[in-house]
Amino acid sequence: VSPLERLIREIIAAEGPMPLARYMALCLGHPEHGYYMRKDPLGRAGDFVTAPEVSQMFGELLGLWAAQVWLDMGAPREFALVELGPGRGTLMADALRAARVVPGFAEAARVHLVETSPALRAKQAETLAGHEVSWHERLSDVPDAPTILLANEFLDALPMRQFERRGGAWRERVVGLAEGRLALGLAPGPAEPGAARGFGDAPEGAVVETSPARELAAAEIGARLARHGGAALLIDYGHAAPALGDTFQAVRAHRFADPFEAPGEADLTSHVDFHAVTAGARAAGAEVFGPVRQGDFLRALGIEARAERLARDRDVETAAGIAADLRRLTAPDQMGRLFLVLALAAPGLTPPGFGP
Ligand SMILES: C[S@@+](CC[C@H](N)C(=O)[O-])C[C@H]1O[C@@H](n2cnc3c(N)ncnc32)[C@H](O)[C@@H]1O
Repeated sequence: VSPLERLIREIIAAEGPMPLARYMALCLGHPEHGYYMRKDPLGRAGDFVTAPEVSQMFGELLGLWAAQVWLDMGAPREFALVELGPGRGTLMADALRAARVVPGFAEAARVHLVETSPALRAKQAETLAGHEVSWHERLSDVPDAPTILLANEFLDALPMRQFERRGGAWRERVVGLAEGRLALGLAPGPAEPGAARGFGDAPEGAVVETSPARELAAAEIGARLARHGGAALLIDYGHAAPALGDTFQAVRAHRFADPFEAPGEADLTSHVDFHAVTAGARAAGAEVFGPVRQGDFLRALGIEARAERLARDRDVETAAGIAADLRRLTAPDQMGRLFLVLALAAPGLTPPGFGP
């Protein structure tokens, strides 16, 4: 039994089964033993591959998006270029390189990375060597300023609650022990009123997921944009409309795993409910655009032309690789449809890619 599993068992023994959200937060973010705290899980040799790790085109187009937003904001002399959960720093490095075509952007940008993992901060420092960068534990620590914010596969890593319909009531799903193993069960009493909002008459056995943490993050971003100006892009897998269903998943070495076996060794996520995220941001005063499919968004920003340019005069194998990356990022049966792009903006600003 790993130190993290021992700790989780001790908490359950002392306090009883814990909500799924707490289990997720411990597995991913425990300061010492959490999944992200200890290692860099990204890339082919790791557990999963994200869009910026598929191809430089992803970060480049987001960099051009950011530069256009900056121009539309009236090119402020100083602004915060923020990334939440920057992974290996690849997206930011590609974005900064591509945005050099817009004079003044790099000089005006103060790069702020919100990252809790020491292992990934070290990797980001390597990738972004030569750039001036500051790190923060949370968004609220980033200084007040006009803001352009990027977050790819950040929201899905924030804790999520699940509720199951039993005997005409919603019960929260909790992690406890069954036959000596960590296992999912149901809290004894009904969930607090409104916890599984909007799904009062769901059939027996239905599952609803909510994520106060994701809604809070969206509200915080929205409030910042409304107050200081700017725009944000939130990219993740999920759904645009409220939906029933269990999307909790563990991924390890590019395969689905049992989320209750070897806690802290697998990435735990669930699909992002963009409907709830949107509501959080809007209530905080931001305007909301999308979500649109990642494939459509990247095509609107010109990914096909970029792929063509990158492949020009290259050998057949390299050109085929670029075509495969393009497909992976945009095709409906790959990342093009499941991944959604939501833009938030200060009132009056229409972010590129979402205009008429
Ligand atoms: C799935 S990775 C995505 C990395 C990167 N955006 C990419 O696309 O390759 C999630 C990232 O969010 C970070 N992270 C997770 N929870 C966080 C939190 N509560 N606050 C800040 N960063 C967090 C992780 O350490 C990691 O950098």
